[in-house]
Amino acid sequence: MNPEDLGRTDFIIIGSGIAGLYTALHLADAGRVTVISKLDLCAGNTRFAQGGVAAAFYENDSPELHLEDTWRAGGAFGDRAAIGVMVREAPEVIADLIKRGVKFDSRNGAVLLSREGFHSRNRIWHIGGDATGKELLKVLLRDSKKKKIHFYENSFVEHLLTGESGCCGVSFIKGGKRFLLQAGAVILASGGCSQIYCYSTGANESTGDGLAMAYRAGAVLRDLEFFQFHPTVFFPPRGDPFLITEAVRGEGAYLVNHDGERFAEKYHPLGELGPRDVLARAILMERERTRLPVYLDLRHLGAAFIRERFPTVYHRCLEWGLDITRERIPVSPAAHYLIGGIVTDLEGRTAVRNLFAVGEVASTGVHGANRLASNSLLEGLVFGRRVACAAAAIRTIDRGGGRIKVKEYLAERNRSETAAGNDSACRAVRPLLQKLLWEKVGLLRSSFGLEEAVARFEQWLPLLNCRFMERELCENQNMLLIGLMMARAAAARRESRGCHFRDDFPESDPRLQGRHLVFKKQLQETGDMPGLDWDGIFHDYRNGGE
Ligand code: FUM
Repeated sequence: MNPEDLGRTDFIIIGSGIAGLYTALHLADAGRVTVISKLDLCAGNTRFAQGGVAAAFYENDSPELHLEDTWRAGGAFGDRAAIGVMVREAPEVIADLIKRGVKFDSRNGAVLLSREGFHSRNRIWHIGGDATGKELLKVLLRDSKKKKIHFYENSFVEHLLTGESGCCGVSFIKGGKRFLLQAGAVILASGGCSQIYCYSTGANESTGDGLAMAYRAGAVLRDLEFFQFHPTVFFPPRGDPFLITEAVRGEGAYLVNHDGERFAEKYHPLGELGPRDVLARAILMERERTRLPVYLDLRHLGAAFIRERFPTVYHRCLEWGLDITRERIPVSPAAHYLIGGIVTDLEGRTAVRNLFAVGEVASTGVHGANRLASNSLLEGLVFGRRVACAAAAIRTIDRGGGRIKVKEYLAERNRSETAAGNDSACRAVRPLLQKLLWEKVGLLRSSFGLEEAVARFEQWLPLLNCRFMERELCENQNMLLIGLMMARAAAARRESRGCHFRDDFPESDPRLQGRHLVFKKQLQETGDMPGLDWDGIFHDYRNGGE
């Protein structure tokens, strides 16, 4: 089917979570901005964010302390320059949000800052108790609607269009039809890929589309072996797992085994506020040792406090008949956040000209090998503003130009794709790959399991050469591509570091300090989906270059 040519805009932003909307707001005065959202506006993981935004604002704290906490939580693997930018600009974005009318929780005029794992100070700004993401989106969406921003909802971006001048537009599917939209620059704010695992805290639409399309367009991906698991997730009898925010532990909740014994300190001196990966593994071990569930116990915090401070968690648990003011919450780890992503510089530029990335989809280097709690919303805000500034500064003449010729685009696509996709095989692959990744590329990894996972993924590779019009099938292709990269990277990193834990290599290898695994497609004359090329070599890959 021939795509409909929608003409041209100045900036396309893919994604309408915190990173997408904040970027859009800051870019709106620089030209025509079009935001494309896969589902309704505000889809994605931001709306589930409970904890808050980390920022060192007051005298008893400092950006330097925030930097050290972020760096240590990341296994001393993060990019200190990138972290420095994020923590120093954090107070500015908080001030901007307050100016926009965001009402951070406070009492008697004093902001109520909370603590989460590995933070040395109380510096988490939250809203509505544990509804931070949802409340932030309300304000950003309200402000976006006041600007001249064009929104396409329920529109699935399948490809980035590239030409001589870099990225110059997208093709997307909406209502069974394909569209082309050209632009001076494209900004990926499309989130991560937590759906790649069968149990995750993320949104169902979080399927790694941005990562996959950026790779196909020639951007560089790195650190895909680092995927963070959240230790405390409630698995209701039916439906999606539900995050129990780390802030409950920050406020003093205990992790206990079935006999009510606290065990976190056995695994880390910081106890319940230890690193997420350590606590997640501790929960697995405690469950295996006792063959019984592990719980979060909030009861000693008091019913009134629990209801006021954690209304989301309280009501969600109550829906399943669990009154957390009286009962303990059974918890297990689940996939939470992709640490790696598309390599960017400190203004969100990728290796493809006029293509930017921001938020979970990007790898700015701030998270190292493991992310500090409540740095994700912050990253989206700080780097969203920076991306907007950099994109706005592209001289008109340097913007993605040389209009895409629709006929040539079609001819190229038709050459590179098999005529018909194998729908049923592609549909069936999602649960298989989700289970495979959970079992073999999950919290505990070993050579044997990782090699098995890589081999299974390679058998599925022919599916990448099919062309589909249905969103679910395109997503499955994206998950396949990214899942294979994750398995390969995890197999290649023969050490444990941050949230990547290998049973067979439980220690960090000092020779791999600062060494990143990168994926970069060897661009070919024809076709843009020839499977997976990578050199499998560790690089000292810093922001934007080697
Ligand atoms: O536990 C939480 O509220 C999660 C916060 C985060 O991932 O930053």
